Amino acid sequence: MTDRTRTVLFKAKIDPKDAPVLSEWLEQSTGQIPVEELFGGTSTLSVSVGHMEPLARTLLAEASRSLGGTVLPEEILEGSDWDALWKKQGFSAFRINHWLNVVPEWENPVSNDGPVLRIHPHLAFGTGLHETTGQCLSLLVDHAPPRKNPASVILDFGAGTGILGIAALRLGYGDKLYSVDNDPLAVEATEANLLLNGLERKATVGTDFQVMSRKFLEDGIRFGLILANVTGGVILGHLPEWYGWLETGGILILSGISTREMDKVQSVCPPPFSVYRKKRFHTLLLRKLSC
Ligand SMILES: C[S@@+](CC[C@H](N)C(=O)[O-])C[C@H]1O[C@@H](n2cnc3c(N)ncnc32)[C@H](O)[C@@H]1O
Repeated sequence: MTDRTRTVLFKAKIDPKDAPVLSEWLEQSTGQIPVEELFGGTSTLSVSVGHMEPLARTLLAEASRSLGGTVLPEEILEGSDWDALWKKQGFSAFRINHWLNVVPEWENPVSNDGPVLRIHPHLAFGTGLHETTGQCLSLLVDHAPPRKNPASVILDFGAGTGILGIAALRLGYGDKLYSVDNDPLAVEATEANLLLNGLERKATVGTDFQVMSRKFLEDGIRFGLILANVTGGVILGHLPEWYGWLETGGILILSGISTREMDKVQSVCPPPFSVYRKKRFHTLLLRKLSC
C-alpha cells in the first residue's frame, strides 16, 4: 500500500537538449510524468518512485546515466513538504488566455477578471504548468460556451488533481461532472479540489471506470464534453466508446499523445478534428457533428 505521508523522488540532472528523451523514458518506466526544473543552464528531472522496487530503481539510475543524466541522491518528501516543493517548482497563480485564473490554494487570485479555479495538487498530476494540461485549459477557454450550459454533462478521464473537469464546470460547459482516475491519490486530490472550489455537489468521482461506464449505459447519459489527458495508448483503447457517448455538437479533447503515437491516434479519429502541438505532446480537439 502507498505510504501517503512520504514520497520518494528520483532526481537526475541533464543538459536541457537531452532532457526530452530522458523525460519520456522516465515516464514510460515509472508511469509518472517527470517534473522539469531549469536552472543555471541545466535541467533537473524529478519523478516519484516510491511505488517501485529497489532493483527497478537501480535500473532506472543506470539507464538514466546511459542517456546522459547525472543521478542525484533520492529525495524523501514528508507529506507537508509538498507545498514547499510545488512552490519551488514555480506553481504560482497564472492566467490562461487572459481569462481563466488558476490559483494555488495558498495564494490569492491575481485578478478578479474571469473565472477562478483553485487548486492544491497534493500528490496528483495537474497544476496547469505541464504543456498537456496547459493546452487542454487553453482549448477549454477558447471553445467555452457563450452562455452556461446547465443541461450538459462532462466526463474527465484521468482527472489527476481534477483541474480540467473543474475548469470545464467553471467555464459553463455543464452542470454535472464525472471524474475518474485509476490512482486513488488522484481521486483524493480531485475530491479535495472540488470541495475547495465549492463544486463537490456537481461531481461524481471514482477509480473504477467500468463501474462508471455501466451507469452511463444504464442511464443513457450523453456528454457535451469529454476530456482525457492520458497517453495515446489509453486513448486508443477508449476512443470508440467516448465518441459514441458524445451528444450532437459534443467535444472531445484528447491530450498526452506523443509524436510516436500521433499517427495511430489520428488514423482512428472521426473528422472533423484539429491537432495542436506543444513540445513533444499533441492535443486533439474533435467535435461530433451528428449522432
Ligand atoms: C497526465 S495526468 C493528467 C491529469 C490532469 N487531467 C491534467 O490534465 O493535468 C494523467 C492521469 O490519468 C490517470 N490515468 C492514466 N491511465 C488511466 C486509466 N487507464 N484509467 C484511469 N485513469 C488513468 C493517471 O493516474 C493520471 O492521474
